[in-house]
Amino acid sequence: MTKFTTILGIESSCDDTSAAVVRDGILLSNVIAGQDVHKAYGGVVPELASRAHQSNIIPVVDEAIKRAGINKNEIDAISFTRGPGLLGSLLVGTSFAKGLSLSLNIPLIDVNHLQGHVLSHFIIEHNKPKDVPLFPHLCLLISGGHTQIIKVNSPLKMEVIGTTIDDAAGEAFDKGAKVLGLEYPGGPLIDKLAEEGNPLSFMFTKPKIAELNFSFSGLKTSFLYFIRDNIAINPDFIEQQKNNLCASLQQTIVDILIDKIIKAVKITGIKEVTLSGGVSANSEIRKQFTELSLKNNWKIHIPSFNFTTDNAAMIAVAGYFKFKQNLFASHDVAPIARFEL
Ligand code: KG4
Ligand code: ZN
Repeated sequence: MTKFTTILGIESSCDDTSAAVVRDGILLSNVIAGQDVHKAYGGVVPELASRAHQSNIIPVVDEAIKRAGINKNEIDAISFTRGPGLLGSLLVGTSFAKGLSLSLNIPLIDVNHLQGHVLSHFIIEHNKPKDVPLFPHLCLLISGGHTQIIKVNSPLKMEVIGTTIDDAAGEAFDKGAKVLGLEYPGGPLIDKLAEEGNPLSFMFTKPKIAELNFSFSGLKTSFLYFIRDNIAINPDFIEQQKNNLCASLQQTIVDILIDKIIKAVKITGIKEVTLSGGVSANSEIRKQFTELSLKNNWKIHIPSFNFTTDNAAMIAVAGYFKFKQNLFASHDVAPIARFEL
């Protein structure tokens, strides 16, 4: 009988508790429990996030095993997100993974969350064959916590060639949304409202940052001051211009991202490019990135929506790559809030 390799992945770095099962590289289940508790606060409250992970982790893992149609004794290894992320949140997933690995007597695999996002393109769903990126390729990783351009030499060898010097692209969306009085996370709401707006209505300054690095904090401040100044003249400014404001802010963020990825392709000569992370769910970046690839003859990979934001499928896939190379963690492994690639 063929022996399968079955990996249970666990993700708990921010405000999503997720568990997934991957067998021989094929995704069998991926369960995600979000946390609505943060909406009222306009951002993730770390203390509340760790408590919610505590409540969610057992039912989420149970459900992932059930949906995969396996027995827990068939799991060969447990991969978990070690960082970067919120320490209290990471501790829940890490401790749970350790406990389960001891009780099932199977190895533990630590995964860098960013590596997980990069490898989300290698998540293959049952009966849905797809092209995976070749190596080397470039990954534009855009999320709530990170904005990076990564040269991916192999599944486990990655080089960051550009990064944000302040805020991440997702923060630019979320903080802009907060100024407009929208709920957290504001990225998806801006995307929706922008559909009815004109992206050329307002101009916001774009940063002049060297090489492949990014900056979004200047945009955040100029957007805030612009809104304040206009409200002083017209108190209904936001209501009257909401769609145009969303479209213009979104366009500015997309322009900043596109400009740097064009530079990265030019510098490295690598024309195979992927998008990853929560912000890659944005309809405008997906559209413009696709147009760009057609114009310049790039081979691109855009993740399916399920795998843009945080999920354990990407952690299980990364775990599978590490398993094949016998890269295991010891039981004294501790989470790391700031964990470089
Ligand atoms: O990857 P992710 O789930 O978490 C981190 O690792 O940070 O990304 C979350 C980020 C949030 O900032 C959220 O607003 C943003 O992704 N996001 C979007 C969209 N969907 C999620 N931003 C713009 N447009 C979207 N459609
Ligand atoms: Zn993430």
